[in-house]
Amino acid sequence: MTAFVRNQWYVAAYAHEVGRELLGRTILDEPILLYRTEDGRAVAMADRCVHRRFPLSQKPSRLDGDRVVCGYHGFTYGTDGVCVSVPGQQRIPRTARLATYPVLEQDAFVWVWIGDREPGGTLPPRAPWMDSPDYTVVSGMETIDSGYGLLVDNLLDLSHETYLHGGYIGTPEVAETPITTEVDDRAGIVYVSRHMDDAECPPFYATSTGITGRITRWQDIEYHAPCLYLLHSRIAPAGAPAPGPNGSDPHAFHVEVVYAITPSTEKTTYDFWAVARDFALGDQGVSDFLRENNRTVVLQDVVALNVLQQALDTEQDGYQELSINIDTGGLAARRILARLAAEGAEQGRPAAAR
Ligand code: FES
Ligand SMILES: [Fe+2]
Repeated sequence: MTAFVRNQWYVAAYAHEVGRELLGRTILDEPILLYRTEDGRAVAMADRCVHRRFPLSQKPSRLDGDRVVCGYHGFTYGTDGVCVSVPGQQRIPRTARLATYPVLEQDAFVWVWIGDREPGGTLPPRAPWMDSPDYTVVSGMETIDSGYGLLVDNLLDLSHETYLHGGYIGTPEVAETPITTEVDDRAGIVYVSRHMDDAECPPFYATSTGITGRITRWQDIEYHAPCLYLLHSRIAPAGAPAPGPNGSDPHAFHVEVVYAITPSTEKTTYDFWAVARDFALGDQGVSDFLRENNRTVVLQDVVALNVLQQALDTEQDGYQELSINIDTGGLAARRILARLAAEGAEQGRPAAAR
């Protein structure tokens, strides 16, 4: 099981999901309540009433202005988590206070900081396509019944597209073409690239771009451990010129695939997925197609990872795996996650205990 990495930003929700309805999400085993104040600010606090632990995200809990009223006996909390009213008495216990979480909105996501120390100047990694006028985005979120490490493994090795996603995004060339891997250990970033110069065009790209023949297909992965995965996908008719020295690339279609990977519990994971494209920007038919197609692909992964987690749960401790070249990126990610988990645990410990 991949250990949790604390003292990090994680995507808790899409910005559009957080509003004047109470929303509950569990992140790194911490139940978190999210909502927006009347002036539009997103806030996050513990999703358990201090009285009898009723989840504040559940009805009949409700908002009263910017305050949260517990639906069980009416304890009422401000946006700072401090209890301002209890039933039947004037005196409010000094300890009646919910933990609050640092919140940041960036790139159409609501990020929440999970950890014991403050984020300071630390910012989440960027996914600027998510709210850029130059891209059209379709997105969704699925919950996986597996540890987040299995999703990281899955995304860093796209050779599985050929087998698990045949007929959608997989073609023989994906599994056949070797990868190059680069690791920036210090920054915690893994890069995996696979450039196919003459490949079959899978339906996902044929239908959305209108290309009918073979293609040049580049997959350039950038995984920012632990929380954000970017796939820069470049599709062009086979033989089209490569990008110019200044980065201009008028002959190609570009798709930025974004996954925010948020561990929920030890064996459940939020899989936020988005597909941003720089073509057919106003075409609703293309948007509908890509949303449906990508959701199908994501669900193929969900089913596979659920099955894999169940299988691993029946294994004896210390079971063996066998890794090959395609696993280079995934193994690098595992090493970085293990280091970050150890550092996060260390930072979270009281100074005297270190
Ligand atoms: S559990 Fe919330 S007021 Fe009693
Ligand atoms: Fe997949």
